[in-house]
Amino acid sequence: MRTVYLNGEYLPETEAKVSIFDRAFLMADGVYEVTSVLGGKLIDFDGHIARLERSLRELDMEKPAAFDDLLAIHRELVRRNGIDDGLVYLQITRGAAADRDFVFPDPEQVEPTLVLFTQSKPGPADNPAAEKGIKVISIDDLRWARRDIKTVQLLYPSMGKMMARRAGVDDAWLVEDGHVTEGTSNNAYIVTGNRIVTRQLSSDILSGITRAAVLRLAREAQMEVEERPFTIAEAQAADEAFITSASAFVMPVVEIDGARLGHGTPGPVARRLRDIYLDESRKAAI
Ligand code: PDD
Repeated sequence: MRTVYLNGEYLPETEAKVSIFDRAFLMADGVYEVTSVLGGKLIDFDGHIARLERSLRELDMEKPAAFDDLLAIHRELVRRNGIDDGLVYLQITRGAAADRDFVFPDPEQVEPTLVLFTQSKPGPADNPAAEKGIKVISIDDLRWARRDIKTVQLLYPSMGKMMARRAGVDDAWLVEDGHVTEGTSNNAYIVTGNRIVTRQLSSDILSGITRAAVLRLAREAQMEVEERPFTIAEAQAADEAFITSASAFVMPVVEIDGARLGHGTPGPVARRLRDIYLDESRKAAI
């Protein structure tokens, strides 16, 4: 049985219990991070913690543990659960107030809830989906306007994945005012020639930790990077497309709304970036 972490304790997963008054349960009042694990080590950990701190600040939430403590908890969970490849999920909520109330509880009286657990995903680096590429559909972006904060209100992204599944494809790209914002749980890119286009950072999208690393590596490899919005029509006419996230790394996209890109197989730029990202991440993992 998996060992999970809850508010200072390592527990068997069946014994970790959170109050029904927890504000994440009642109001989605919580933030999260997903850090991938390769070869038993954490990928881009500093970036995930920096973004977590920002999410907490934006929502006036207390940070329940220092960087070093969070690192130690991540490592201990990876060790206890024998995770070689997989991920660590971390969630912080505003805690359990005495009753349901729209007003935030006094942080002096109500402690945040801190939960972490691992998921094992053997061999993500040789994921067969990366060889085939994934297919996406476009849907309206009906999320709230602060997508830069990584909150646990994931109902619409979850509905988006279901729309994709019903359409017989793998994921959905979200479109607002005629332009792609991002994927349901990843950042979106198109490639024409040697130029990579992805939407610029703003409150319209999540500032992906994988995005930051991949764009840096792309520039180092002399690829051109243009940060601006793009349309579905432009994406369908592109040579290649791909997505990035802590769980997918760099994943080629081969079809958008039924239109095949290029030869309908992963393109050279996405393949190369995936290889470079996995290589560099393994080297820098802690
Ligand atoms: N999702 N955009 C959205 C809306 C996301 O939910 C995510 C991550 C990303 C990519 O961010 P990063 O590269 O830091 O993982 C972009 C995580 C993996 C999830 O919800 O499981």
